[in-house]
Amino acid sequence: MSFLVEDKNYAFLSNLGIEKQNLGVYHTKWTGSGKTIKSICPANGKPIAEVVTGTLDDYETAVKATQAAWQIWADLPAPKRGEIVRQIGNALRDHKTDLGKLVSLEMGKILPEGEGEVQEYIDICDYAVGLSRMFEGKVIPSERPGHALLEMWNPLGAIGIITAFNFPVAVYGWNNALALVCGDTMVWKSAGTTPLTSIAVTKILSKVFEANNLPGSVCSLVCGDSTVGEAMAKDDRLRLISFTGSTNVGRRVALNVQERFGRSILELGGNNAIIVCENADLNMVVQSALFSCVGTAGQRCTSTRRIICHEKVYDQVLSSLKKAYSQVRIGDPLEPQTLCGPLHTENAINEYLSAIEEAKKLGGVIECGGKRINRDGYYVEPTIVTNLPHNSPIVHKETFAPIVYLLKCKSVDEAIQINNEVDQGLSSSMFTTNLGDVFKWLGPKGSDCGIVNVNIPTSGAEIGGAFGGEKHTGGGRESGSDSWKQYMRRSTCTINYSKELPLAQGIKFE
Ligand SMILES: *[C@@H]1O[C@H](CO)[C@@H](O)[C@H](O)[C@H]1NC(C)=O
Repeated sequence: MSFLVEDKNYAFLSNLGIEKQNLGVYHTKWTGSGKTIKSICPANGKPIAEVVTGTLDDYETAVKATQAAWQIWADLPAPKRGEIVRQIGNALRDHKTDLGKLVSLEMGKILPEGEGEVQEYIDICDYAVGLSRMFEGKVIPSERPGHALLEMWNPLGAIGIITAFNFPVAVYGWNNALALVCGDTMVWKSAGTTPLTSIAVTKILSKVFEANNLPGSVCSLVCGDSTVGEAMAKDDRLRLISFTGSTNVGRRVALNVQERFGRSILELGGNNAIIVCENADLNMVVQSALFSCVGTAGQRCTSTRRIICHEKVYDQVLSSLKKAYSQVRIGDPLEPQTLCGPLHTENAINEYLSAIEEAKKLGGVIECGGKRINRDGYYVEPTIVTNLPHNSPIVHKETFAPIVYLLKCKSVDEAIQINNEVDQGLSSSMFTTNLGDVFKWLGPKGSDCGIVNVNIPTSGAEIGGAFGGEKHTGGGRESGSDSWKQYMRRSTCTINYSKELPLAQGIKFE
C-alpha cells in the first residue's frame, strides 16, 4: 500500500515532522504503545500516514508528566507565560501554509479554510498575550473596619482538552492559548481521524518549550480512542475538561465530570437557522446562506441547517439559492478553485444519505442535490430540501452534511418561535432591514442561542467574543470575552489588617 506522505506532492508534510509512521503520544518524549491507525485523506480515500496511538498506560504517564510540568509552569509570572504564547504564535506563523495544507489534506476542508484555522490560533495567541498582562482581580469595599476584601484568580492545574475532527487546529488553539496564560498545563486528546494535525501542532509547541528550557509536557498529546476520552472525563486530576463534539458523547462526558465535581466546557451540536424577513436584502441572504450551508461541506457546528423564510420572499429565495448551488465548484480541497470539498468519512456519507431518505419519507422535496458524487473520496451534492413541516423530526436533527431545510413562515414572531423550538442553541441569524426586528431578535423573547447575528451568516465567529451555545449545545463558552475565567479558580480573600483589639464596652486593655 502506498502512503500519500511518500508522494512528492505532499513533501510539505516533512516540514511539519510528519513521516510515514508517527508516534501519537507526547509528554516528555514522543511515544505510543497502542494500536497503529491510518489517517485517511477524505479527498481520495487513500492513507496519508500511520500513527501509533496511546494506551491507557500511555495516558497515565502523560497525565503524571503534565501534572509535574505544572509545578514549573505555575511559578512563571503570567506575563512570562504570555511571552511563551507570543513565541507559539510566531512559530504558527512560520508554519501557517504547511499546517493549513495538512488540515485540508486530513480533514477535507478547502485550503483557505485550513489556513484560516491556523490564523485563528495565531489570533487567539495574540489575544492571550495581551490578556496575560490584564487578568483582572477585584478589590471590593469591606463592611468591616481594618479589612480588605479581594478577588484572586489562580490556575486550575492540569486540565484536559478533547477536540473534534472539524476544527482540528482552531478549537485546540482557543483552549490552549488561554489555558497557557492562565497557568494551566494540559493533556490533549484529538479526534481519531485527524491525528496527524494534532501531532504537527504538538511538534510546533514542543520546540518552543524546549527552546525556553521548559518541559514540553506543559502541552501533552494522547492520540487514542474513546477509552482515553472516558478516562479523562473520570480523571480527578484534570480539574477541567473542555469537550467539543456531539451532544450524545457530550452528555456522557458531562455526567462523568459532574460525578467527580470537575468543571466542563461543552461545545456540542447545533441546529442553526437563518431567518429571512420580508424586507431583507435578498442578495445578501443568498451569498451568506451559500457560505454557511455549503462551506466546510456543512461540517461546522455553526453551519446553517434551516432557513426560515417569510412567505412573501420564499419563492425568490428558493430560486436564487438553487441557482447559486448549481454554480458551486465541488472538488479537491487543495485545488484553488474548489468551494466545497468532501465529507470527512465514509460514515458521514451514510448519515447524509439516510437523512435524505428520511426527509423524503416524511414528504420532503429534494430541490437540488441529494446524491453521492461518483468519484474517489467522500463527496456529496449540497442539498436543499423543502416541503417539510418546521417540527419534522429530521428538521430537528443535526446532520453533519451540506443539507439545508427551507421553511416558510408568516411573521417575525413565528420565525423566532421556530428558531427556538429545537433542542440545540448554538448559532442563529436574522436578515432584516428593520430596526424593530433587530432588537426583538436580540432581546429577551428573541433568539435563545449563544450566537445571535444580524445580516451575517450563522458561521464565521470572531475570536474576540465568547463562542458557545445554550441548551443541548452544552452552555460552554470559549475564546474571547471573559471565557478565560473558566481556566482559573476564583478565591474571595478577606484580610484583617487592623492592629486594634476592639473590646466590648469600649474598654481598652493595654
Ligand atoms: C481583626 O484583628 C483584630 C486584631 O487581632 C481583632 O481584634 C479583630 O477581632 C479581628 N476582626 C475580625 C472581624 O475578626
